[in-house]
Formats: sequence, structure tokens, C-alpha cells
Amino acid sequence: MERGRILLITGACGLIGSEVTRAFARLGFSVTGIDSNHRAIFFGPDGDTSWVLGQLRSEIPSYRHLDTDIRDRDAVLGLVEKLKPDLIVHTAAQPSHDLAATIPFLDFEVNALGTLHLLEAARRFCPESPFIHMSTNKVYGDGPNTIPLVELETRWDYADPAFEHGIAECFSIDQSKHSIFGVSKLAGDVMVQEYGRYFGMPTCCLRGGCLTATFMYELWKSPRIAEVYNLGGGKSNSCSIVEAFRMAENITGKKMNRRYVDENRIGDHICYYSDLRKMQAHYPDWRITKTLPMIFEEIAVGWRRRLRRLAAIIA
Ligand SMILES: NC(=O)c1ccc[n+]([C@@H]2O[C@H](COP(=O)([O-])OP(=O)(O)OC[C@H]3O[C@@H](n4cnc5c(N)ncnc54)[C@H](O)[C@@H]3O)[C@@H](O)[C@H]2O)c1
Repeated sequence: MERGRILLITGACGLIGSEVTRAFARLGFSVTGIDSNHRAIFFGPDGDTSWVLGQLRSEIPSYRHLDTDIRDRDAVLGLVEKLKPDLIVHTAAQPSHDLAATIPFLDFEVNALGTLHLLEAARRFCPESPFIHMSTNKVYGDGPNTIPLVELETRWDYADPAFEHGIAECFSIDQSKHSIFGVSKLAGDVMVQEYGRYFGMPTCCLRGGCLTATFMYELWKSPRIAEVYNLGGGKSNSCSIVEAFRMAENITGKKMNRRYVDENRIGDHICYYSDLRKMQAHYPDWRITKTLPMIFEEIAVGWRRRLRRLAAIIA
């Protein structure tokens, strides 16, 4: 039987959420997005995503938006009861490492409690619908930094051959420093797994590194119970920050204003790339379709276009 195609996406105006909205609308889904524009609360006026909402509305005439706050339990339960989505993609989050330590209650309420609201709403009103949760590789804390590293000319790499393909999903999430953000995300991640295992729901945590695309449609086609995948480009599509600056310089022809500090952010990884083998074994049709140079080119083209538009408005 053909499944329905109603998508509920949280954080619809965010970086990941807006792209997921566009991608699934193109695939014929009827998309309802919720976003309370908390980015503007977290990051001030520069974080305001109203302009993204404007774009989504003009690009996708059928797009339906609600400014629901995922911390509002009754609103979330009421919405899911009414909509009965066939797919839930949860990307709403407080996404900043450094900010979390200054707003621990708000960070935890959004990342952990908000996730529980959505899970419970799904369990009550659409338990068969896949629930895809955007988690993060920060759930591994700084554990990956305990792996012996080798310093190459422009990057660190794992010296231990056991990690030649990167970090796999079985890597410990325990007894390491995560940052306050890492812990609130981990709480949400484990709860998503638990709703899968305990209630037999098709939940999945995607632990992203640096993301520019998503394999969520493959998951939608063949959902599994309580899965976890590390997401990203894998070793073959990885770069260090120094290498990223060089690629940006090559594309823009402009020297980047940068300074190398021999210290990682608290709780962050010195070297990290995802071992994609589990995901590839479960979803053999999924392929990386964009190489790093293609991604950098797209970012540069997009920003040139945006800056031209801004210049025209100012003029
Ligand atoms: N962008 C990446 O490359 C990447 C990589 C790894 C993991 N992730 C994870 O994916 C998730 C989304 O990341 P992003 O980069 O799209 O973040 P983002 O900040 O761009 O988007 C999150 C959106 O959620 C909304 N939001 C926040 N609190 C809300 C609330 N209480 N109710 C409703 N909406 C709310 C914000 O307004 C924002 O538009 C995060 O959990 C992040 O850790 C992202």
C-alpha cells in the first residue's frame, strides 16, 4: 500500500531544516514546518531566520508554517494529533557548543525536553511513522581525542589502524567531556533510541559531522527500529579546517584572514570523520553525490548571489 506523504519538520527555517523542507517538497511531500525563530534569541538579530521563511513560502506555495515552540508540550501534542504526519524530521535545536554553557536550562529544554515532547506525540498519534532525529557527533564527547593521532602537513589523522575508516557508531558516548550542548543532544539522542527500542517505533538518530546533504529519503523508504548512523562525507570526502581555508582561497581568489591556534574548542574533536560503512551496508543505494570541491563551489556561488542581491538593495 502506498504510504501517505505528510512531513512534519521541526526547525524548518534552520540550515538543515530548510534544505530538508525543499528536498521533500520536491519529492511530492506535503510539508508542515515548525520554527519559533529561536535562532534570533540564541544569536541576536544576525540569527533571525525570517528571511528563510520568506524564501520557503515563495518557493513552495503549499508549504505550511507554524511558529510553535517545541518546548510547548500541549502545542506539540495537539499539532501531531491533528496532522498525523507520515514522517517526522526533527532538526529544531539549540546548536551552539559555546552558547550552551551560558544558557544551560534553555539549551536542555530545547534539545532534550523538546525532543521528548515530539517523541511522545509520535508514540501517541503516529507510532508507525518514521522519526528522524538530527543528532550530532558531539555525543561522543572528546573521546575521539584519546585515539593516537599523527600530525600531517595540513591535518591531523588517526594513527591507529582500527580507525582508518573513521569513527563508528559503537564508539563510546560515556566518560568523556561533551560540552553542555553535547550532553543535551546526547540526552535527546538516547531518548530517540529508547522510544525505538522500548516502543518498537521506527526512530533513527543521525549523528552528523559537517553536513551539506542528507540521506533521509533512503531512510523514509526503508525505516528501521531504533537505528543510529554517523553521517558525513567519510574519510574520502573530509578536510581539515586549514584545508577548507585553502579551498575557499582557491575558489574566491581571496586570501582568508585566519590565525592558527594550537588548541581545540572545549569538548570538541581534534580530528573527526565518520565511518560510513554501517549506513552504506544498510542502504546500498545511498551514494555521495557531491565532492568537496563541488560543495565549496556551490557555497561560493550562493554567497556571491546573496551579496549581489544585498548590494543591489543597499544601492
Ligand atoms: N549544520 C550541520 O552541519 C550539522 C552537523 C551536525 C549536527 N547538526 C545538528 O542538526 C541540528 C540542526 O542544525 P542546524 O545547523 O540546522 O541548526 P540551525 O540553528 O540552523 O536550525 C535550528 C532551527 O531550530 C529552530 N529552533 C530552535 N529552538 C526551537 C524551539 N524551541 N522550537 C522550535 N524551533 C526551534 C531555530 O530557530 C532554527 O531555525 C542541530 O541539532 C545540530 O546539532 C547540524
